Amino acid sequence: MAADDLVVAMTGASGAPYGVRLLEVILRAGRRVHLTISPAACEVFATEVGRTIELDPSRFDPHVLLGERATGVDLDRLSYHHFRDFRAGIASGSFLTAGMAVCPCSMGTVAAIAHGTSGNLIHRAADVHLKERRKLVLVPRETPLGLVQLRNLTAVAEAGAVVLPAMPAFYTRPRTLDDMVDFVVGRICDQLGVSHDLFRRWGAPESAE
Ligand SMILES: Cc1cc2nc3c(=O)[nH]c(=O)nc-3n(C[C@H](O)[C@H](O)[C@H](O)COP(=O)(O)O)c2cc1C
Repeated sequence: MAADDLVVAMTGASGAPYGVRLLEVILRAGRRVHLTISPAACEVFATEVGRTIELDPSRFDPHVLLGERATGVDLDRLSYHHFRDFRAGIASGSFLTAGMAVCPCSMGTVAAIAHGTSGNLIHRAADVHLKERRKLVLVPRETPLGLVQLRNLTAVAEAGAVVLPAMPAFYTRPRTLDDMVDFVVGRICDQLGVSHDLFRRWGAPESAE
């Protein structure tokens, strides 16, 4: 445990590539990551990425999650925790971290965090980050948003979370899907204090291309 460790949770909203890229960028930045994944996230990952994540810690393989993005990444910096393991350090406020991102964040998980139900390790770790007044970044993906969802998003924002919807911008002139993923992941990293060079910032000089 170190005070600059980060927590990443993946839940069952569309957008598995955001979570995978976020993990890669944080690890390449030399930070330690505590990772937990919901069963619904596995389903979405299988649909969107085409690989099957084993959630059982004895069978969990970070290479399946990261795929070709694992190349050159120091996987010793990745600690995986089963979503039902309330004995994991990140379930307690006494375990120091620099922040947490739920990416992607389903509306179900937003609701659980908004209401403090702590039914799994993801909800509990998010609850801990709120109560300890640490950075909590939620990356929802849903459209259109219903009134219940908007109220839950308001509740988590009022409790201190940063609601950072998976909404790529076009002013960076993305050329590929990776560019669009990198814009969202870069904005998450900005919130978590992870240095990156994932997109050209507004106002920065254009490089010669
Ligand atoms: C392929 C697929 C895509 C989904 N996309 C979304 C989504 O974009 N946003 C969302 O809130 N839920 C989405 N869901 C539904 C959630 O996975 C579902 O509500 C689940 O209970 C969330 O559980 P979790 O929050 O524990 O991960 C999707 C489900 C599947 C199978």
